[in-house]
Amino acid sequence: MKNFIFQNPAKLVFGKGQIEKLSELIPQNVNLLITYGGGSVTKNGIYDQVKNALKGRNYTEFWGIEPNPRVETLRKAIKLGKENEIDYILAVGGGSVLDGTKLIAAGIASEKDAWDIVLSGVADKQIPFSSVMTVPATGSEMNGGAVITREETHEKFSFGGDYPQFSILDPEVTYSLSEHQIACGLADAYTHVLEQYMTTTGQSRIMDRWAEGLLLTIIEIAPKIKENPNDYDLMADYMLSATLALNDFIRMGITQDWATHQIGHELTALHGITHGHSLAIVMPGTFRALKEQKHEKLLQYGERIFNITEGSEDERVDKAIETTEEFYRSLGLTTRLSEEGVGEETIETIVRRFNERGVAFGENRNVTGDVAREILNECL
Ligand code: NZQ
Ligand code: ZN
Repeated sequence: MKNFIFQNPAKLVFGKGQIEKLSELIPQNVNLLITYGGGSVTKNGIYDQVKNALKGRNYTEFWGIEPNPRVETLRKAIKLGKENEIDYILAVGGGSVLDGTKLIAAGIASEKDAWDIVLSGVADKQIPFSSVMTVPATGSEMNGGAVITREETHEKFSFGGDYPQFSILDPEVTYSLSEHQIACGLADAYTHVLEQYMTTTGQSRIMDRWAEGLLLTIIEIAPKIKENPNDYDLMADYMLSATLALNDFIRMGITQDWATHQIGHELTALHGITHGHSLAIVMPGTFRALKEQKHEKLLQYGERIFNITEGSEDERVDKAIETTEEFYRSLGLTTRLSEEGVGEETIETIVRRFNERGVAFGENRNVTGDVAREILNECL
């Protein structure tokens, strides 16, 4: 195990009816901005719950943070925040509203342009922010990351910074999600675990077992959720799995991959493919292209997650990869670029972008433009 420092300061407030705690959780003497997406909260009652919880308090609202939040929109919120001397933000929405809010919090605290903050990779300073999370998927409610899109150039990059001060997770907010949104959320959470797990064996027994616990849980609940998306306990397990999949707990002292996410972000930026869906397409391709490098871990994964114990090692590895792809498909997602009408031209665009940026992703820092091409060819 490598040396590491772990500190996750985000407070989780979990359960039914917890949105009513907002008033006691948000400090009294702050100048509050509340950020929202496009209006789903007005249809499912979350907006009313927030309003009731904050009755008697003054605050400003900002609406319209879109899925894959755009820097062009967030600049408007930063301007509004500066004009109103906002010093605390509550995000009410999915990962996009919260990620956008992380950039608004940085933009308000800085003189830099918002896109320059994203490109710098780290926000030096942010005003405090918290969330009411309405989509279990990204883990943004308990991590310091944010992913921002620049619509003008179809680019999508992440940056790091502060964690939310608190996040309220009420599993009942998930009842209004569509089957496709849930499929994408489960795929995102499952892939977050794989990005931190599917490297090499023998780094940490405890990280492996935690990751495997999350993978097994997601596999167990996914078909049940399809049957019964309004089952509170199932949705509670889904919600907590998504948080635990990307809140630093399962990556202490180990190497990580994340190449699939980087390639997935390109597919989203270029074609608008929903984030979780992009991962369902790329992850099996990453496994196929890098199966020698990940051989031992794929064997362990196949045996511990899918009980694959028969056949030669190569056959077991192939079976583990096939079963992973079947799992994504069982959620109701396509897993091939060709099914989404994406082909060679996009692959070459991504290769060119990676080469121009001089990037090399993955646990061995060997996923360059050329290796990304191999991965994407395996996704066709
Ligand atoms: O905008 P409104 O009208 O609110 O509708 C939203 C939006 O269309 C709707 N929605 C939200 N809560 C709902 C609901 N519909 C019904 N019932 C509810 N309870 O769903 C859509 C919102 O989607 P979005 O926020 O984009 O989904 P998600 O939470 O999956 O976030 C995806 C974004 O997070 C980034 C992704 O790249 C993408 O930009 N990620 C962030 C990460 C992080 N911060 O750590 C890590 C992830 O790997 C990911 O990259
Ligand atoms: Zn993700």
